Amino acid sequence: VDTTRIRNFSIIAHIDHGKSTLADRILEVTKVITQREMREQYLDKMDLERERGITIKAQTVRIPYRAADGAEYVLNLIDTPGHVDFSYEVSRSLAACEGALLVVDATQGVEAQTLANVFLALDNDLEIIPVLNKIDLQSADPDRVKQEIEEGIGLDTSEAMNVSAKTGLGVDLVLEAIVKRLPPPKGDREAPLKALIFDSWYDSYQGVVVLFRVVDGTMRTGQKLRMFSTGAEFEVTRLGVFSPGPQDVQDFGPGEVGFLCGAIKDLNEARVGDTITTAAKPATEPLPGFKEVKPMVFCGLYPVDANDYEQLKNALEKLQLNDAAFTFEPETSQALGFGYRCGFLGLLHMEIVQERLEREFQVELIATAPSVVYKVERHDGTTFSIDNPSKLPKQQDTAALYEPFARVEIHVPNEYVGNVFKLCEEKRGIQKDIKYLTATRVIITYELPFAEIVYDFFDRLKSGTRGYASLDYELIDYRASDLVKLDILLNGDPVDALAVIVHRDKAYYLGRDVALKLKKVIPRQMFEVVIQAAIGAKVIARERVAPLRKDVIAKCYGGDITRKRKLLEKQKEGKRRMKRMGNVELPQEAFLAALKAG
Ligand code: GTP
Repeated sequence: VDTTRIRNFSIIAHIDHGKSTLADRILEVTKVITQREMREQYLDKMDLERERGITIKAQTVRIPYRAADGAEYVLNLIDTPGHVDFSYEVSRSLAACEGALLVVDATQGVEAQTLANVFLALDNDLEIIPVLNKIDLQSADPDRVKQEIEEGIGLDTSEAMNVSAKTGLGVDLVLEAIVKRLPPPKGDREAPLKALIFDSWYDSYQGVVVLFRVVDGTMRTGQKLRMFSTGAEFEVTRLGVFSPGPQDVQDFGPGEVGFLCGAIKDLNEARVGDTITTAAKPATEPLPGFKEVKPMVFCGLYPVDANDYEQLKNALEKLQLNDAAFTFEPETSQALGFGYRCGFLGLLHMEIVQERLEREFQVELIATAPSVVYKVERHDGTTFSIDNPSKLPKQQDTAALYEPFARVEIHVPNEYVGNVFKLCEEKRGIQKDIKYLTATRVIITYELPFAEIVYDFFDRLKSGTRGYASLDYELIDYRASDLVKLDILLNGDPVDALAVIVHRDKAYYLGRDVALKLKKVIPRQMFEVVIQAAIGAKVIARERVAPLRKDVIAKCYGGDITRKRKLLEKQKEGKRRMKRMGNVELPQEAFLAALKAG
């Protein structure tokens, strides 16, 4: 393909502003998909995949387009993942483009995610075309929203387009703007191959499928390729493009976007952001921006029924095949038995995985409270990381503790500013900036301990702003904090799965609150349950759940006194054994008590 006729672009938008609808409409207008096929594709996506022998990833597509100037262009629409935890993936997809459509709902306006995505796009030097969507709606106010874009983001909106992705109004103009306003890719055909991986997934028929953008050089089937970060080599067995189904292609030149299959078994060998080069004539430098994504939030997942352990393991393995950012390793908890310590990019990622495990794989789970990764400094100056609060060494063995901090940007109508301040202060936030996007919409920037966000921040923010706030965050650094481990003891035994790490100033309050919450959720058992919250050896709160007194004697009619005594003895023994083993029945809510406290 002639590079001057290629346009690589993404669509960036806040959730629900119409990204998918616009993509569908573009595919329809350009006849890549007919209306009938579109319906069928959604109805029978699974059948279609089986037939074509490859998983179709929704929206990364090659679109042949004859422009008004009469020339044939190749437009590559590159899909970006849609939520806050995946900003690194978004940034790599954007790095594969020269431009982006910025879709803003004309009935809503600029939101936190809009802004975050625009900054990622600007970081990658993309040309941005503002598109005001949902213009068919009565409440659309494109002029106000344009002003927001100008003032809040500093983008020129004089050539912004009014569009209805729903009715198709203005979509033809968007296509013309892509051709006219976005620059064609640059690249050196003769240079050693450099291709950027911006997505990869596991396909049960083909093995790992890699989506890439060629920056320099050329790629052909049969070539031996090398991954820059791992040095792994493999032969390309299949090259192609999605349009929207897979179509085989023999070779690719600079600026082109496609997929490849080879003998790649493990998703970890095809990492997003890595550079592909050839084994015969490798490039000397990789493309900039490669980063190994590391899970930032951890929790323990345990099967409710211990017999499901193997099934859980299988399910986790299957999930990981398609999600390199998700990690797990076996973990044993005294309280919960055998399970797995699982790592996620963020809270939303965690929720998605938990939901899939329960829904698709039918494993009932107990999840422990999520934890961030802390850094522990020993007295000799060495440091190590912990992702499980129960692993925190005794206070006298640690010189310092460090916790991750995030920069959080919250967009909110001005009447809720007070509530946002209150919440952020309570969460140990440091205010950094307040900016008026318009007369009524405010952008508030705070630096917050990531752990405070992981707890109940999203829910609290939502309820404090009646759902009107939008938020974006980014991890910035680790800072020393006065942190302590809050242990929860049941009948004198610390329950490893209930331990949390908290700031000292909050520990007392939280300890009392968790103990009270636990008292409410722990069912009464045959024996008394004493709940204590402690920091080190110091107990800071105590509650008790009174025992059920099962009337064992009621069963013995009449007066056989030896029998009665025997039963009483047995009951006592039973009680003692249960106590000694700390075998208290804990419902799932108990593990979330720390989250809901405060
Ligand atoms: P996520 O996939 O969740 O990120 O959302 P999205 O940005 O892809 O939004 P999507 O395309 O799913 O649209 C969200 C909702 O807005 C859907 O109910 C669409 O039908 C509706 N919608 C999208 N574009 C228009 C439009 O131009 N006019 C109207 N009236 N509704 C629209």
